[in-house]
Amino acid sequence: MNELALMGGSPQIPYELPSVKNTSGRDVGEEELRLVTEVVKSGNMGFLYGAKIKQFQQEWAEKFKVDTAVAVSSGTASLHTAMIFLNIGPGDEVLVPAITDMGTIIAVLSENATPVFVDVDLHTQNMDPKDIEHRITERTKAIIPVHLYGFPCDMDPIMDIARKHKLFVVEDCCQAHLTEYKGRLVGTIGDVGCFSFQQSKHMTTGDGGMVITNRDEICGRKLQHCADKGWPREKYRDHLFLAPNYHMTELQAAVGIAQFRKLDDFIERRRKSATYLSDLLKGLNGVVPPLEVEWARNTYYEYALTIEPKQFKVSNQVLARALTAEGVQTAPGYLPYPIYMYEVIKNKVQSFDVDLCPVANQACQSMLFIPWNEKLTDQHVEDIAAAIRKVLMYYSK
Ligand SMILES: Cc1ncc(COP(=O)(O)O)c(C=O)c1O
Repeated sequence: MNELALMGGSPQIPYELPSVKNTSGRDVGEEELRLVTEVVKSGNMGFLYGAKIKQFQQEWAEKFKVDTAVAVSSGTASLHTAMIFLNIGPGDEVLVPAITDMGTIIAVLSENATPVFVDVDLHTQNMDPKDIEHRITERTKAIIPVHLYGFPCDMDPIMDIARKHKLFVVEDCCQAHLTEYKGRLVGTIGDVGCFSFQQSKHMTTGDGGMVITNRDEICGRKLQHCADKGWPREKYRDHLFLAPNYHMTELQAAVGIAQFRKLDDFIERRRKSATYLSDLLKGLNGVVPPLEVEWARNTYYEYALTIEPKQFKVSNQVLARALTAEGVQTAPGYLPYPIYMYEVIKNKVQSFDVDLCPVANQACQSMLFIPWNEKLTDQHVEDIAAAIRKVLMYYSK
């Protein structure tokens, strides 16, 4: 067997794979430039007077078949806007998964509400519906299912529990653009859907986000006002409640429109290359590729490969380092440990315990997280598969 690059051998992939850090892995070009140029030439780049943000919101709302889409400055801003919209405040509890981006938690804490952590499914790492109900108290106001890595949460049981306990559902779709659950786009199943357009997402505006709902004024608040200082612009300097300024700019919206028009194609390309990799990994001991099932359309934000730690002589951390040395930039899972274990969150968790969510703990040691993008060709995928085989077979027990 060839010597591992980690031990001084030659890397399986001696060139740079396409990356979301630049145009090698991002399809950004002429159309984005044309629309951004229009904005610059117009002399108006801000939220107040431009047409691009309105157009971006309108095209998004049409695609998702929702009444309202509000473009904002980030995914975190979209989630915080949703909290304000639903009037979540001090004393309220919000159920969140133990594995997610910090932005999900920051949104809850920003309104002085308390995040309550729910365990996850070992394979998908999405919120486990079976672990929700016993975490509900009389203070619980909302659930935030996070559709991780492009794969949808099991929304039917989550919606049943939410209806039974009269809870709002905010879908965190920051990693799940055009992901479907039983034929429905995620973001349209709960009360509010939140998206991120940060550089690594399925489409990007550099940074940015979108919030959607079919229930504007559900809490007597308009979604738009929740990202605009509580300001009903048709009135002279009135402010109905406290809210931040989370405007997207016209420049970002120009890029967003161009990117959004290509999103279906991006998703097809991501799906084609990811399912090809899963085919190539068939028969490899100790790994379970991302789920492909008839009730879900996985859009592969990243390629999340579950491993069975007992089958290997070393941890997922060492496996990730070895794969990176072979030329596949791999992380040992999405998070090193559940998000409630971060120092900045620990003291905000009621009755903190390392094993608050034991499956999440296990899941963090059972994943190899391989970055994905729309520019991966069959050749790239074949090289990635060869690198994975080389490393995993070397360390196989
Ligand atoms: C699941 C999830 N939620 C929230 C966020 C926050 O989005 P942003 O980084 O755009 O603020 C992200 C993005 O990294 C994410 O992946």
